[in-house]
Amino acid sequence: MENNEKQVSAYQSHIHEGILLNANELSQNLNENIIREIQQEIPNILFNRYPDDDYTSLKKAYAKVMNVKPDMVLCGNGSDQMLGLLIGCAISKEDVLVTLEPDFGMYDYYVSMNDGKMKKFPIQAGHNVDIEDLIEFSKGASMLLFSNPNNPTGNVVPKEKIERLLRAMPEIPVVIDEAYMEFSNESVIDLLDVYPNLFVTRTLSKAFGAAGIRLGFLLSNAKNIEKLSALNVPYSISRLSQMVGEIVLFHADEFQDLVRKTIERREQLVALNQELNSIEIFPSQANFVLVQSKKINRIIEAMNNEKITIRVYDNKPYCRITIGSKEENEKVMEVLRKVDRI
Ligand SMILES: Cc1ncc(COP(=O)(O)O)c(C=O)c1O
Repeated sequence: MENNEKQVSAYQSHIHEGILLNANELSQNLNENIIREIQQEIPNILFNRYPDDDYTSLKKAYAKVMNVKPDMVLCGNGSDQMLGLLIGCAISKEDVLVTLEPDFGMYDYYVSMNDGKMKKFPIQAGHNVDIEDLIEFSKGASMLLFSNPNNPTGNVVPKEKIERLLRAMPEIPVVIDEAYMEFSNESVIDLLDVYPNLFVTRTLSKAFGAAGIRLGFLLSNAKNIEKLSALNVPYSISRLSQMVGEIVLFHADEFQDLVRKTIERREQLVALNQELNSIEIFPSQANFVLVQSKKINRIIEAMNNEKITIRVYDNKPYCRITIGSKEENEKVMEVLRKVDRI
């Protein structure tokens, strides 16, 4: 066994106490009405039966919200599972996946599971990605995949630049991970029928406040979805999650207000940048901000003292802070002001 063990990059899961601003979740739980509807549905669940493996009504519900046809949707146990499926289909021994650096750590995990190689195009918070350079960098790759808005910088690659990528590399899948796109407005979903090499992943874990049920989606043209459905793990979403997901999606409009408020608080936090001398808070199109400073260790320590958990990175001068509730956001600003003065 020892010799056959794969060298898979470890994924660190998250802490669950204090103020949690490390995983880009929504700061509040589903509202009372939604919870009540979920409770009312529980007695109707056939716990003894496997779930509908075609997820017909869930697909319909998501397609309606996203304004696409149901046959353009595949459902997964989090968008993570959809990313794993896509990477598994495109990447095998020595194949190269191009992504950005920094980007979402789970890409490394799935590529290493498939014995592939990562090639990372460096980007910087607050700077545009040079698309022509990225096209050149991607030559010979088997897949291009990045998050947009980017985790952790909060940068967004505009839609017309993504079209440029899609046209430049029609022979490989281009996967745009739109986990945070509800907090921005550069989605490429309306290009799915135009570019057969385009795949988009989305999730209920961020803007829809339902990270606990693990529900994500893959969108592409109907032909691609049909092929991928045949390769997808059966029964990956429980009857419970399907039911909760459908209820959440039925209430989709109500989440727009939460998204708007999150964006307002994000802009307040970004505006604090004007006041600070030794700490930089970068503009963001997501529900988090990247904070960079020579005093990064002091920031981490001060957040720790206030029981605020943020996302830190080994040997990097930055951290990522999720936009929390009004009170949580104010506390974060207070800590940053304090460290700035030291
Ligand atoms: C960029 C990005 N993509 C995908 C995911 C995974 O989301 P899900 O909860 O849908 O698996 C995350 C989670 O943090 C993320 O940051």
